[in-house]
Amino acid sequence: MHDIHDTTRPATSARLAILLRHATAETHDAVERLPLMARLTSPSVTREDYLDYLHALAEVYAALEGSLLDALDEAIRNDLGVRPKLPAILEDLAEQGQPHIPHPSTQLAPTGSGAALGGLYVLEGATLGGRVIAKHLRRCLGPALGSAGFLDFHGEQSSAAWKRFASILDSLPAHGRMDPTEVIAGACTTFSMVHRMLEGAGAPSAPAQAGPEHAGPRGSGGRCLAASIAAHHED
Ligand code: HEM
Repeated sequence: MHDIHDTTRPATSARLAILLRHATAETHDAVERLPLMARLTSPSVTREDYLDYLHALAEVYAALEGSLLDALDEAIRNDLGVRPKLPAILEDLAEQGQPHIPHPSTQLAPTGSGAALGGLYVLEGATLGGRVIAKHLRRCLGPALGSAGFLDFHGEQSSAAWKRFASILDSLPAHGRMDPTEVIAGACTTFSMVHRMLEGAGAPSAPAQAGPEHAGPRGSGGRCLAASIAAHHED
């Protein structure tokens, strides 16, 4: 039986984690530019912005996470060690005095083991950038941020947890346990669904401000956030 933690695969083989990052990069950028996200990464972020973000993410995870986990082979799910994130989002909201009951969803997560794995890559990855966002929010909001149990889901273990997730992703096609094309298609579909759901969420009550502080991740502090950890990842 193959050990799926084996890292001795040829260096020339395509790494699924890298293919996924490239395939979803454009949608990730588009998500970062959404008004809800631009407010979150702005230096003038407020507690309300953070709450809007949590409410929106609660809907996303409630709609997708359960079905994606259910669609995945139990053995692979165990290898990946993915833990559901929705409870952490709901706990963060409850701590903020904002209990959230997700609406019944009409979104249909991709089905099939490969596509579900791609979808889980998207949901798991949100906590990779999440740690950096949590630091930014802690700086701007101080104690009002609370535990940030979702954004800082893996705490000090973030990098290790992601490396484990990515190395298992990489090993699956090599052992014939997953079709990379299906995984990538599932990730793209899921990321587009996330984008659509976040696009309609958390519209600001006041007219959007157009100054440089609200220019979003590409134009302001958010870009610095991304740049600060992008260096940890290399192709
Ligand atoms: C304000 C919003 C967001 C910001 C600023 C942000 C930022 C980041 C950053 C800095 C990284 C690390 C990139 C790297 O090290 O290469 C990252 C990775 C990632 N993020 Fe986000 N993110 C945001 C929202 C989201 C959301 C909503 C999702 C999905 C639900 C998501 C999914 C991912 C994924 C899948 C990765 C892993 C990319 C890889 O394969 O390395 N992000 N994000």
